[in-house]
Amino acid sequence: PRPRCAALRRWPLVWLHALPVVVPAGLRRWLSSPAPAPRVCVVGSGPAGFYTAQHILKHHGGALVDIYEKLPVPFGLVRFGVAPDHPEVKNVINTFTQTAHSERCAYYGNVTVGRDVTVPELQRAYHAVVLSYGAEDNRVLGIPGENLPGVYSARAFVGWYNGLPENRDLKPDLSCDTALILGHGNVALDIARILLSPLQLLRKTDITDSSLAALACSKVKRVWLVGRRGPLQVAFTIKELREMINLPGARAVLDPADFTGLESAVKDAPRPRKRLTELMMKTALEKPVEMQAGAAAPREWGLKFQRSPLEVLPSADGSRARGVRLALTRLEGSGDSAKAVPTGDEEELECGLVLSSIGYRSLPLDPAVPFDSQRGVIPNSSGRVEGVPGLYCSGWVKRGPTGVIITTMNDSFDTAQSVLEDLQGGVLDASPFREGFGLVESILRSRGVRPVSFSDWQKIDAAEVARGKAAGKPREKIVDPAEMLQIIGH
Ligand SMILES: Cc1cc2nc3c(=O)[nH]c(=O)nc-3n(C[C@H](O)[C@H](O)[C@H](O)COP(=O)(O)OP(=O)(O)OC[C@H]3O[C@@H](n4cnc5c(N)ncnc54)[C@H](O)[C@@H]3O)c2cc1C
Ligand SMILES: NC(=O)c1ccc[n+]([C@@H]2O[C@H](COP(=O)([O-])OP(=O)(O)OC[C@H]3O[C@@H](n4cnc5c(N)ncnc54)[C@H](OP(=O)(O)O)[C@@H]3O)[C@@H](O)[C@H]2O)c1
Ligand SMILES: *[C@@H]1O[C@H](CO)[C@@H](O)[C@H](O)[C@H]1NC(C)=O
Ligand SMILES: *[C@@H]1O[C@H](CO)[C@@H](O)[C@H](O)[C@H]1NC(C)=O
Ligand SMILES: *[C@@H]1O[C@H](CO)[C@@H](O)[C@H](O)[C@H]1NC(C)=O
Repeated sequence: PRPRCAALRRWPLVWLHALPVVVPAGLRRWLSSPAPAPRVCVVGSGPAGFYTAQHILKHHGGALVDIYEKLPVPFGLVRFGVAPDHPEVKNVINTFTQTAHSERCAYYGNVTVGRDVTVPELQRAYHAVVLSYGAEDNRVLGIPGENLPGVYSARAFVGWYNGLPENRDLKPDLSCDTALILGHGNVALDIARILLSPLQLLRKTDITDSSLAALACSKVKRVWLVGRRGPLQVAFTIKELREMINLPGARAVLDPADFTGLESAVKDAPRPRKRLTELMMKTALEKPVEMQAGAAAPREWGLKFQRSPLEVLPSADGSRARGVRLALTRLEGSGDSAKAVPTGDEEELECGLVLSSIGYRSLPLDPAVPFDSQRGVIPNSSGRVEGVPGLYCSGWVKRGPTGVIITTMNDSFDTAQSVLEDLQGGVLDASPFREGFGLVESILRSRGVRPVSFSDWQKIDAAEVARGKAAGKPREKIVDPAEMLQIIGH
């Protein structure tokens, strides 16, 4: 009987109309107490999910927010994307943890929305549902040889060194001396840096033990980063480029010829682009320090421009990649919107390892949710999913797979603002009483799914930190879900 009483209390107006005219004063007072707390559900526990939750909790004193996450452990790409040698970036986890500790916030890990519970089921349980499940797939090149052994997506490679359970058995073959990374974004630079970093720099990070062991045996000593457009169109940023240039024991190989004729375009470019290009030019013109000293650096990396991948070339026996065939391009138009058009000339580059770093991609979650498969985003206006009242989106699934954590924060606040407006504007009152997790719990139980709570995660967290301590690492990530299960005593 309790939930029914709660229902009466929570939505007094609805019931008052249905009651006989004479209502005892006490009952009337009880019935007209303030409206109940709205229940909001957030799907995904990356930056988008946590920042959306944070903003709603902060600006609505009564709202209750439940966060559902597919993996047992929280924080999305902050844990599984951000490079291990960028620990300062992961400090946002402290803010997310504070949010999770709010009395009005709950975390349910190990629940795959769209499989374990559907979006319509969540909509029945909550007044508002926010989809912030990120971009879990990657763009594909769509060229012959893409699936040969020796070719990996950046997403899988990053997942591997960061301990993402699904990529823990990737075991990339690092027995060749040359790697080729397709793409000129920050993820491409992350991978180049991890491949060429001195081991002692990685040892003290939270990179997984097994990937550290694999990197210790790596023969890779040369990394080419290949982009289809020119120096003025690179997608990476200056801080990340500078880190690469300053990497101990690795020499930058940039061709000054790639920058000839760009002077006036550089002058007119927006300031960040101008500084970034000037740094590349300066590096291209510098005499390598190692050459002056008469000793070659053991490792090197370089940027190659205006080369679009045509084919991954198989080795003679067809068993693995031996190189990439590239179309030389010229640029049509200028600035950010310039297009790469093949000139008809081609080039082959030898390499034993190919990493395709051309961007992530969101997937549709549930047939009940509109999805623009062309752009890989959920159609929305200010985070309101088009045509579905009460449904919202934020983060990479809303805007596409670009932008740093701060960008994602801003855009999540925008979505949260829409939710708040709709809650306050009475837009979401159609069916007043929602049971929240109470309803979802029974659905999950009937399907044999066991959610992981935030305090369960904190047990895993503590175990990881304890394991890392001996090796001087901030943590040793647990990559096996069965081991997580043991730690939380399920
Ligand atoms: C390799 C890499 C490195 C990066 N490094 C930096 C950096 O150094 N600094 C910086 O500022 N930005 C960095 N970024 C960008 C930053 O990670 C993103 O801006 C941000 O993570 C996007 O947030 P999101 O919440 O939309 O997606 P995500 O972080 O991907 O979070 C989505 C969450 O939803 C969960 N999920 C997926 N499907 C379901 C489902 N069906 N049910 C329930 N949950 C689900 C996922 O498991 C995940 O936890 C990096 C990105 C990448 C790819
Ligand atoms: N340290 C950090 O702050 C950090 C670290 C990692 C990631 N991030 C952020 O996370 C986001 C995602 O990064 P990302 O590197 O995955 O994506 P990105 O920045 O969009 O870069 C993708 C790269 O792939 C190229 N590309 C796309 N399709 C291609 C194709 N078919 N053939 C050849 N090249 C192709 C793009 O070239 P075109 O421009 O020609 O399309 C671009 O150079 C970015 O916003 C990034 O800044 C930040
Ligand atoms: C969803 O909203 C974002 C940001 O407001 C916008 O960039 C994107 O184009 C929108 N998507 C669609 C398909 O409307
Ligand atoms: C933040 O979002 C608002 C609206 O969503 C947008 O107008 C603004 O340009 C964004 N700011 C930044 C720094 O991204
Ligand atoms: C997650 O749920 C699955 C069922 O979907 C269950 O088999 C597994 O043990 C759960 N994992 C954890 C860590 O609780």
